[in-house]
Amino acid sequence: MDYFVIEGETKLEGRVEVRTAKNALLPCMAAALLTPEPVVFKAHAQLQDIAYMAGILRHLGATVEDEPGRPMVITAEEIPSPECPYDLVRKMRASAVTLGPLLARFGRARVALPGGCAIGARPLDQHLKGLGALGADIRIEHGYIEAEASKLRGAEVVFDMPTVGGTQNVLMASVMAEGKTTIRNAALEPEIADLASLLIKMGASIEGLDTGTLVVEGVPGLHGAEHACIPDRVEAGTFLIAAAITNGDVTVESANAGHLDALLVKLREMGAAIELVNGSIRLRATGELRAVDITTAPHPGFPTDLQAQFMALLTQARGAGVVKETVFENRFMHVPELMRMGADIRIDGNVSVVNGPTPLNGAETMASDLRASACLVLAALCAKGRSEVRRIYHLDRGYERLEERLNALGARISRVQT
Ligand code: UD1
Repeated sequence: MDYFVIEGETKLEGRVEVRTAKNALLPCMAAALLTPEPVVFKAHAQLQDIAYMAGILRHLGATVEDEPGRPMVITAEEIPSPECPYDLVRKMRASAVTLGPLLARFGRARVALPGGCAIGARPLDQHLKGLGALGADIRIEHGYIEAEASKLRGAEVVFDMPTVGGTQNVLMASVMAEGKTTIRNAALEPEIADLASLLIKMGASIEGLDTGTLVVEGVPGLHGAEHACIPDRVEAGTFLIAAAITNGDVTVESANAGHLDALLVKLREMGAAIELVNGSIRLRATGELRAVDITTAPHPGFPTDLQAQFMALLTQARGAGVVKETVFENRFMHVPELMRMGADIRIDGNVSVVNGPTPLNGAETMASDLRASACLVLAALCAKGRSEVRRIYHLDRGYERLEERLNALGARISRVQT
């Protein structure tokens, strides 16, 4: 298991380019199962999660051409058996989005239940409710979701909560269903509209992009297409917070500021200077930061995927900042690690109160999940002395060579391979 050694008290300066959003690319890769023709994606970041999804598609029988720096081509000409086994699914929960497209194209799917994960139980009940509404017969047997439908039929699906994966699954299941499907309380995350725009290029009929109601008219079949997924808003946000926590000046290029409104508002409230120029976001620290409160919420609220990184920043801000996590029930695992570095944080249920500023001291820390790892790296950048961040395999799932890109901005991070 690789780990990072980080020398702290660095100031980040310069420009960094944000990569394609993995959370957009993963469901789009699954959408390639909807057609026997090739679906081509612009070159993307080399990430473990993308390799996992490619592995699942290959297991199903698709060909995935994926050379670094070149477009990825997925061709799902024949799928001998629409089944995703547990050993592949357990590595990445997002593999559950193969359920909708497999069911739509082959009339049946057998996908292992991914199980719980560090940040919460994350049930799939809404996915199954939506697929059931479209006429699928669904059983859970031996830890597998077994879904069958001789013909999916358009229906009205109303989610209890706006679920990103659930909306993607039901959307992909509905594009070739007979008649009209209306998905209400659909998630508004930009990754949904990105998937919908790929599906439209493939021949689907979808209206209501970027609204809470998606209306789909089923078509008999889909064809190949080319697509460039949206930039990674979580990665862009992580770099901006890295600039702020190190009192630095960083320009994040190829980002979509419109996807980051909730974060940018809070960074400005804290006292950072933010400029938007031609698709770039520049953050310049302007002295002491003021504490602010955040509440995570579905888009366009403050993203839960930036909560941990933002909490690291609050340790360096003056005053008490209240962090309320409303999306996942167990997403404060970075807190004890931050406290070991000297942070003053109290947790009460889904609320944490961060009192700052506290000088952080380098320490040996352990990453518990993807975004918590990013939080610990950011804390180590501004801490006094040397830190270790262990279990960075979590980080590699979602950030491409983060250490090299932060080092190009002035960080001192080395990866130790064991
Ligand atoms: C996606 C993102 C993840 C992000 C999350 C919330 C990907 C690959 N992952 O995860 O990075 O943190 O959105 O923005 O895009 N829920 C249910 N039943 C369901 C589905 C969801 O109760 O059937 C609950 C979840 O437990 C959670 C909330 O709804 O509390 C939101 O989950 P959801 O939007 O589905 O997250 P994911 O799609 O898993």
